[in-house]
Amino acid sequence: MKGISYSRYGGPEVLEYGEVGDPKVGPDQVLVKVRAAAVNPVDWKCREGYLDPVLDAVFPVVPGWDVSGVVVQPGVAVTEFSVGDEVIGYVREDFLSRGTFAEYVAAPVRTLARKPRNLSYEEAAGLPLAGLTAYQVLVKALDIKRGETVLVHAAAGGVGSLAVQIGAHLGARMIGTASERNHDFVRSLGGEPVAYGEGLAERVRALAPEGVDAVFDTIGGDTLKTSANLLAPEGRLASIADAEVLSYGGRYCFVRPDAADLARLAELAEQGVVSVHVQEALPLERTADAHRLSQEGRTRGKIVVTVDWETEEDTA
Ligand SMILES: NC(=O)c1ccc[n+]([C@@H]2O[C@H](COP(=O)([O-])OP(=O)(O)OC[C@H]3O[C@@H](n4cnc5c(N)ncnc54)[C@H](OP(=O)(O)O)[C@@H]3O)[C@@H](O)[C@H]2O)c1
Repeated sequence: MKGISYSRYGGPEVLEYGEVGDPKVGPDQVLVKVRAAAVNPVDWKCREGYLDPVLDAVFPVVPGWDVSGVVVQPGVAVTEFSVGDEVIGYVREDFLSRGTFAEYVAAPVRTLARKPRNLSYEEAAGLPLAGLTAYQVLVKALDIKRGETVLVHAAAGGVGSLAVQIGAHLGARMIGTASERNHDFVRSLGGEPVAYGEGLAERVRALAPEGVDAVFDTIGGDTLKTSANLLAPEGRLASIADAEVLSYGGRYCFVRPDAADLARLAELAEQGVVSVHVQEALPLERTADAHRLSQEGRTRGKIVVTVDWETEEDTA
């Protein structure tokens, strides 16, 4: 099959499009015909080698953890899915080897859920990693309750845009940092935008003079430090970007594949509670450009790549 791979760490130029070999389908895996795969910042962080201290890479690596597609072959012990089922997945293993930027991926059942029927393949591909992160941080780590005020950083990005929607659905007041050009977008998600940078603390205090009940940090460094000072007494702090959060008494979260959480997210999407904004969809061959775009750090919603199956039978 065709796919994207890299044989050494480096910039976007190490990504090659070509033959990558067919995946084997394990007993509790299903072979998914990929229709779309979303780009996440972790994809280029892995490609650059930044995660090498914690994740083994089996070169050549096929990158990508997010997928939407169609089941073409269930493994021998699989009862949950059948041929033709439309699925989404956060297909992360504990090492880098065979990811989703390819025509097919063998996905463990524990990483999958049914695709929300009302989302396109492009939109659905953007849901798993970013949506699971938002859901697990808000529901499991921060335990957000109705009526609470939450500060979420990078509210226009992949994780933030889903966090604003999920938090608002939980009944929280969601204050989200974003640059001016994204303020209307954040409002459309149900959040109250504030500009980040110089003066952030004053702007948040103007909106929440008593402090915020919880902070969802996606930036780290000074942003984390400033945010910790904006917490109300007994306020909770979680970061997905900086383990330094532990020194503030907060939680560091690393999103886990979880079929039940993913099914819940898919349900929220079908109910119209969460939507996925796709900033740009590029063909699989242009994955390097998709990485470059993500790496600029200005993504609104998600960037995805698509596999264009040519004939009608191909898409079944
Ligand atoms: N630990 C985990 O499990 C986990 C899971 C998912 C993501 N992450 C990490 O969390 C971070 C966010 O992920 P993502 O997928 O949401 O990224 P993303 O989609 O690439 O985020 C892009 C957004 O970041 C905003 N932004 C850039 N600098 C900012 C700043 N200083 N303050 C506030 N917003 C800023 C941009 O908004 P403007 O254009 O308006 O400036 C843009 O909309 C990444 O570092 C990613 O690796 C960790």
